Amino acid sequence: MDRIRIVGGNRLNGTIPISGAKNAALPLMIASLLTNETLTLDNVPRLADVAMLKRILGNHGVDCMVLGKRSGQNGMQGESIELRAGDIVDTTAPYDLVARMRASFWVIGPLLARMGEAKVSLPGGCAIGTRPVDLFIEALKTLGADIDIEAGYVFARAPKGLRGARIVFPKVTVGATHVAMMSAALAKGETVIENAAREPEIADLAACLVKMGARISGAGTSTIHIEGVDRLAAARHAVMPDRIEAGTYAMAVAMTGGDVLLEGATAANLEKPIEVLTQVGAEITATNRGLRVTRNGNGLAPVDVTTEPFPGFATDLQAQLMALVSRAEGTSHIRETIFENRFMHVQELARLGADIHLDGQVATITGVGKLTGAQVMATDLRASVSLIIAGLAAEGETIVNRVYHLDRGFERIEDKLGACGAAIERLSG
Ligand code: EPU
Repeated sequence: MDRIRIVGGNRLNGTIPISGAKNAALPLMIASLLTNETLTLDNVPRLADVAMLKRILGNHGVDCMVLGKRSGQNGMQGESIELRAGDIVDTTAPYDLVARMRASFWVIGPLLARMGEAKVSLPGGCAIGTRPVDLFIEALKTLGADIDIEAGYVFARAPKGLRGARIVFPKVTVGATHVAMMSAALAKGETVIENAAREPEIADLAACLVKMGARISGAGTSTIHIEGVDRLAAARHAVMPDRIEAGTYAMAVAMTGGDVLLEGATAANLEKPIEVLTQVGAEITATNRGLRVTRNGNGLAPVDVTTEPFPGFATDLQAQLMALVSRAEGTSHIRETIFENRFMHVQELARLGADIHLDGQVATITGVGKLTGAQVMATDLRASVSLIIAGLAAEGETIVNRVYHLDRGFERIEDKLGACGAAIERLSG
């Protein structure tokens, strides 16, 4: 298994190209199931999760072709892929695939909407919490599906097609909003989704569905209107830049000091993290090429932050912020409200010398003068990258084990950080 070795202490200076967003690419790829025509996606990040989803979609009959490079493209740019679900050959998503990647549960919506049936394994728990699927099931029932749960599988049927309806989510959920929107795009009549997730990835999926012929308005707000259509068609869409990757590198620069341009990052998707980073002591300016992050050698200030659905502070940046403020001058508090168990990084950060006390959903972080390199274990995607951020500022050598978690969501992290002066390398095997 690969490991990452870091020798801390270097400042970061240079340019980091921001990849396409994992959490937009996944639902966009799944949307290819809604039509028998070709969906072309540009700026698709080269990630383990994307590769896994290609396999899962292939199982349903989706042909996936990676388009060749064009002149002027370099290795840092995302892939262009063509997805064509000419015939859906299988409406079952088996346990061994769904258990490996939770978002693959989302195929349930498009399969049901297009084929009138889907049999999808329950995803099971994951490292960050129990993550139930009750809200997906309620939403699909509201759209007229019959649902049975048997032997670990959700059987969804709507032989006469789905019917538009009013879906009111009792809690904000990104995944069930994606699924409700994709399903309603092919339902008969009008659907209104209330208390919808407002994440920019929802708006990105809606923009693509509209190019495919869907009639959707309001995506990106808490009320989405969808007028069902009979069929969707070919379209071409570029995946939005990854706001979580951008926020992560911004925290890395705040941690080490330096001056980095996050190429392609947009401030509009990062307002809250920018506010928090500014409080901590980084300076972030929007330029026409992306966001420029600087910090001089001054100390970091502590913060009190609560994770919330967008536009609040993202849970996907919580671990990284915790690593950053472990070096602040004073005490910070971070409350996690989205996932009940997203604190796996706490014990690993402690191995590097961080002083973190957990009380239920609140972490109290007392800043320490220095972190010291150590062997640590990656436990989930965002926890892994928090260890990298800490390692960049720790004295001596940090080895991060189980790097496959990192490869699920960060494209060439060692190349991107290395190009800005970090002493970081991948140790194979
Ligand atoms: N929830 C339910 N029932 C449901 C669905 C969700 O109780 O049927 C709960 C969840 O357990 C959680 C909360 O609702 O407590 C919010 O979960 P949500 O559905 O919004 O999360 P998700 O769609 O499973 C996506 C991202 C996550 C990100 C969350 C929150 C993708 C592929 N995943 O997950 O990303 O943390 O939204 O923003 O888009 C990551 O990239 O590292 C990651 C975990």
